[in-house]
Amino acid sequence: MRITIVGCGNMGTAYARSFRKYGLVKSDDLLLVVRSDSGHEQLERLGRVTRTVDGAITSSDLVIVAVKPQDFGALSTGLADVLRADQVVLSIMAGITLERLSVALRHRTVVRAMPNAPAQIGMGITAYTTATELSMRQTLMVEQLLNSTGRAVHLSNETLLDPVTALSGSGPAYIFHLVRTMIRTGTDLGLEPHVASALVKQTLLGSYHLMEHSDRTPDELIKAVMSKGGTTEAAFKVFERQGLENTIHDAIVAASARATELARS
Ligand SMILES: NC(=O)c1ccc[n+]([C@@H]2O[C@H](COP(=O)([O-])OP(=O)(O)OC[C@H]3O[C@@H](n4cnc5c(N)ncnc54)[C@H](OP(=O)(O)O)[C@@H]3O)[C@@H](O)[C@H]2O)c1
Repeated sequence: MRITIVGCGNMGTAYARSFRKYGLVKSDDLLLVVRSDSGHEQLERLGRVTRTVDGAITSSDLVIVAVKPQDFGALSTGLADVLRADQVVLSIMAGITLERLSVALRHRTVVRAMPNAPAQIGMGITAYTTATELSMRQTLMVEQLLNSTGRAVHLSNETLLDPVTALSGSGPAYIFHLVRTMIRTGTDLGLEPHVASALVKQTLLGSYHLMEHSDRTPDELIKAVMSKGGTTEAAFKVFERQGLENTIHDAIVAASARATELARS
């Protein structure tokens, strides 16, 4: 398989690293398109680095677009000129619809994916949707590559990428916010910051594995931790009084609505 990645920042580089780590592409068959002149030593160990979008892309089976959405306009004309009809274009740009990709690149076999930050260490989750023109073989190729960055979920309805963006795309930031608040509170209550940090992070890790290894629902797991008149119940009374559940719900709905708005603009 031959792959081109256009835009080698956080995500583009992470993709290159995952594809190489799992032997999905040889370094000679991985073309990495960058914009700036220097600082590409790490990329040069992964594939062939170039600054130009030109005919070299034509030999790739898959072209991944991993630039920021605001850089897509400037890139699209040059890219459209060198694409071959049987190549697959996979975009991970937030808010750029399949239709916009297809029109701007004058290309039919396009895929739109929404990864998340843990993809940078091979632990992401990516939801993706494909143009109807993709063959089963091309869809499987995309799924295999996305799986190398964590897990991949296929969506047949593109509009569902908006709630996905709100849930798993932005989700790591919600978790980091919770972790930060818990550590700060532990410190306020007298713990050394590094002790509070270790307690919170290990609690997060352990809770995740408990969920994964138990057949109990989150509701049942909460009940198992909470005893009548105990400490967890005291905390949950404050959550309830201050409307934490509604706050989280409304925040995710707002993020989803913003994703819809950005895709329309
Ligand atoms: N990071 C996340 O957690 C996340 C999650 C979901 C989706 N995404 C999507 O993934 C995409 C990339 O995000 P990122 O965090 O990796 O951004 P990033 O670190 O800013 O990387 C983007 C890279 O694209 C390069 N670039 C821009 N225009 C180019 C061009 N014409 N040719 C070649 N390279 C070009 C930039 O070069 P310079 O260094 O010169 O600016 C930069 O290295 C975004 O569209 C974002 O919406 C990211």
